[in-house]
Amino acid sequence: MLALQRASALLVLFLSAFVPPPRCAQDPGMVHYIYQRFHVLEQGLQKCTQTTREYIQDFREFSKNISVMLGQCLTYTNEYKSAVNNLALRVERAQREIDYLEYLREADMCVESEDKTLAEKLLQEAEEEKKIQTLLNASCDNMLMGIKSLKIVKKTLDTDGSWMKDAVSDSPKVYFLIGSRNNTVWEFANMRALLEDSTKLGPRKLVLPQSWQGTGQVVYKGFLFFHNQGTPNEIIKYSLQKRTVEDRMLLPGGAGRALVYQHSPSTYIDLAVDEHGLWAIHAGPGLHGHLVLTKIEPGTLGVEHSWDTPCRSQDAEAGFLLCGVLYVVYSSGGHGPHHVTCVYDPRGTISEEDLPNVFFPRRPRSHSMIHYNARDKQLYAWNDGNQIIYKLQTKRKQPVK
Ligand SMILES: *[C@@H]1O[C@H](CO)[C@@H](O)[C@H](O)[C@H]1NC(C)=O
Ligand SMILES: *[C@@H]1O[C@H](CO)[C@@H](O)[C@H](O)[C@H]1NC(C)=O
Ligand SMILES: *[C@@H]1O[C@H](CO)[C@@H](O)[C@H](O)[C@H]1NC(C)=O
Repeated sequence: MLALQRASALLVLFLSAFVPPPRCAQDPGMVHYIYQRFHVLEQGLQKCTQTTREYIQDFREFSKNISVMLGQCLTYTNEYKSAVNNLALRVERAQREIDYLEYLREADMCVESEDKTLAEKLLQEAEEEKKIQTLLNASCDNMLMGIKSLKIVKKTLDTDGSWMKDAVSDSPKVYFLIGSRNNTVWEFANMRALLEDSTKLGPRKLVLPQSWQGTGQVVYKGFLFFHNQGTPNEIIKYSLQKRTVEDRMLLPGGAGRALVYQHSPSTYIDLAVDEHGLWAIHAGPGLHGHLVLTKIEPGTLGVEHSWDTPCRSQDAEAGFLLCGVLYVVYSSGGHGPHHVTCVYDPRGTISEEDLPNVFFPRRPRSHSMIHYNARDKQLYAWNDGNQIIYKLQTKRKQPVK
């Protein structure tokens, strides 16, 4: 459209080149004729692009005719030689301009088709965004600011493992999964039973039909979700009450081919629960690739959406989600400081200048796991055999300008 506006502007310019009209004694009606012709051409150029070509061709022929006429003028009238020469030059210039216009017009059509795909792309993006907004529409707008305190709840000799409470239901039970490959889950009646570990309040032993792989398990609404050991990407949903496998799914996107976090040497799929529901984190393709975040519908085990994040697997040790935002903990060489240096917000609701600078208290080793519990709003972590609770400092997200 811009090129066409420019075309008509140039034509007006060209038109004004004939005012005051050059005087050619042999053909006094010529100027009027030229004027009229250009008026038609100008209107034509303002019409849609499809017909512009016709007008440009028309103009070419017309200017050729003028050149012929001017040649005749030249032969008869020496008197107006310079005026006619002038007009000839202007026609020549107009021809060059029309050539340029045609070039623009062709470019314009290219731009138009690009515009179209761009418009389609924007529409697609808007729909995508709407879908994500609906998907991640929990009433929470907190973001992590820092670690308020650390509490070592228990010490064991097992370097790796995971522990958790149900992240949604208000059950007081605590689950203990020792090691990065096993099938025995210990269920404690509550936190106190775990602390005392007395025989009286002894844990219930649950033997899973399959072993888990890594330390990425979560308990969500009475189900244990874990990566089935021996498969690259199978996630099992196990009913803790019925003690049976409820469902299973294969996590797509090349999940399970590489470690999620470089410093967590047995976890290929990390699961997470936050205010929005169930998530999986895995490494994308490539050596120490970028993390891929997948939202899973816990009822049907369908994939709701997947995001390629800018967070790298290299030097990472753990990750968790809080209020729809992924926080990845890094430590150089696997020992401290443990520091959140990558924050990924699928909705883009955290502005660049608002990104937190979160340091964890120094620990001798990297964390086996760090999982957020949306119910009590704290982190459950396993570090060098210690079961740790991190209390959090959060704040309301600032609206992105
Ligand atoms: C150019 O001149 C030819 C012959 O005189 C005529 O048939 C044709 O219509 C003219 N073209 C334009 C665009 O004026
Ligand atoms: C988000 O939830 C609120 C209240 O639950 C609702 O009013 C709003 O329309 C929802 N927005 C989207 C995009 O689904
Ligand atoms: C699984 O864990 C139990 C106790 O939690 C332990 O006795 C057993 O040796 C473990 N098995 C493997 C294969 O590590």
